[in-house]
Parts: sequence; structure tokens; C-alpha cells
Amino acid sequence: MSKVRKAVFPVAGMGTRFLPATKSSPKEMMPVVDKPLIQYAVEEAVEAGITEMIFITGRGKRAIEDHFDKAYELEAELLAKNKLAMLEMVQNIVPPNVNCVFIRQTQPLGLGHAVLCARPVVGNEPFAVLLADDLMYTNPGDMGVTRQMVELFNKEHASVLAVQEVPREDTKSYGIVSSTPWNTHSERVQGIVEKPDPKVAPSNLAVVGRYVLTPRIFDQLQNTGKGAGGEIQLTDGIASLLSEQPVLAYRFQGTRFDCGSKIGYLKATVELGLRHPEVAEEFTHYLAHRG
Ligand code: UTP
Repeated sequence: MSKVRKAVFPVAGMGTRFLPATKSSPKEMMPVVDKPLIQYAVEEAVEAGITEMIFITGRGKRAIEDHFDKAYELEAELLAKNKLAMLEMVQNIVPPNVNCVFIRQTQPLGLGHAVLCARPVVGNEPFAVLLADDLMYTNPGDMGVTRQMVELFNKEHASVLAVQEVPREDTKSYGIVSSTPWNTHSERVQGIVEKPDPKVAPSNLAVVGRYVLTPRIFDQLQNTGKGAGGEIQLTDGIASLLSEQPVLAYRFQGTRFDCGSKIGYLKATVELGLRHPEVAEEFTHYLAHRG
């Protein structure tokens, strides 16, 4: 089976939970300390050996394209002022061997539809999907979550979904799996359902924003009708895939911050701020001594 070389970043959502901040700027460009969410996700994909970054964008998302493009005026300005460290930083947002491709999803018809939009560029290869609003923190030197999943994919030749246990009352915000044991950190998915009511949810094992999928998912998505919320759901495509191929649920090593929600975003800002080399000391002192 071929290597995972490509990653899809669906960034066409409306970000309604973060209005008014997301009225005219993309949620994925919101910074945690000093880096936009989308850059954390791209760096995680680069660390996993992925070289083709495919962004599914929509209206009002042009700032994401600009972020990964050359910034002539800014670079000339930094050079003229001899701010060489900053110049190097803005020139190396992505390594030179990495390509970025942008595809417009003209209508927000759902995550499944967004992933299907990537088909012409992904072709017949396995690929990763990263939802940038889930920020996956791993300690420096530890393997990133996407890399953990790519390694599992390479070993088992099966699609992999990142999962974590959530409080029972939260099942209505996630895709929820039913599963049987596989090995220490993974389970074999038997069923998956989008946003079930806690009373009927098959478990509290929730899929979070990282996937490694075989290209067979595209055929399934092509035949998937509208599901929960009137959207074409990736979850429903995965449910159909289950009848053809094994799918694994992987309990990743790391901390997930749900930066699509205000509280998750605030937690990420505090935790990463406490670890940021430039501000850690002062911020730690501030938190310890405030009122
Ligand atoms: P969410 O359910 O988080 O929706 O989408 P959202 O619009 O981003 O945010 P809220 O809930 O309104 O605040 C999950 C992921 O799927 C993408 C989003 O960008 C997000 O990364 N998505 C969703 C699309 O790319 N296209 C869609 O049609 C729907």
C-alpha cells in the first residue's frame, strides 16, 4: 500500500461558535500565542512526513492562502530593517519540499462533502485529514498525533480515526464509535454514528479531528446523502466504509484542545503560553500572582 504523502485540511466551515471573531476572518487563522491554528496543523502534518497540503477553503478564507504564500512587502521590509530572525521565520512557514494546493468548496455542504472536494488532487492514495480547530499538543521531542496515526496505518493497512473518551452528555457533539479491542491503543470500529443523543449513544468514545483514510472513502462519500444537520457527513461515509474495510479507532498520545469552542481555545492559550520560551516565565508569574 502506498505511503501517506497528502493531507486534507477542511477549512470551509463557518465557525459560528466564534462569532463575531469569525465574521470576516477564518477561525483557522486565530492565533494560539503567536501561531495560527492552521499552522500548528500543517506543522503536525510535516512532522508526519506529509509533503502535499490540500486546503478545502470557502468564501472569506483567503487569509489562509496568503499565510502560506510569499509575503514580498513584509520580507523586503524585514530585510531593510535587518530583522533577519523574523525574516527567516516568515520565509519558513512551510519547508521548501512542501506544496500547498487550495480547492474551493463553493457551498458548506458538510465535512464529508469538503473531503470529497479533495478527490481530484488526492487520487487513489491514502491520505490524512486534519481539522485545525482541534489543536493536538504533544511534548517537544514526542511523536505528533498524525505521525502516530500514519505509523499505525503503515503497520495495519487500515484507516485510522483519532478517538478519545468524552463525558456522556457530550456525545451529541461528536461522531461516536462502537468498537472491539484490537491492541493496546487501538480498537476495531464496529459502528459509527454522528452526534447521537447521550441516551442512545453506543459509547462515549468520540472521534476527534484527525483521520488517516484509504481512498475508498471517496466512493462511499459520493454515495452518501445528507445526514445530521442536513450536511454530508464524513461519519456516514466512514460507516459505509466499515462494510468493506477494517477501520481502527486510535487512542492517541497527546492533549487535544477543542479550539473551535471558546473554553478549549482559552485552555490552549494558557497551556501553550505557559510553555512558550518567550513568555513562559512572565506568564507563569502573572497567573500565580493575579488577584
Ligand atoms: P464544524 O462542525 O466545527 O463547523 O466543522 P464550523 O463551521 O467549522 O464551526 P461552528 O461549529 O460553526 O463553530 C468541522 C470541520 O469541517 C470543516 C470546518 O472548517 C471544520 O474544520 N467544514 C465543515 C468544511 O470544510 N466544510 C463544511 O461544509 C463543513
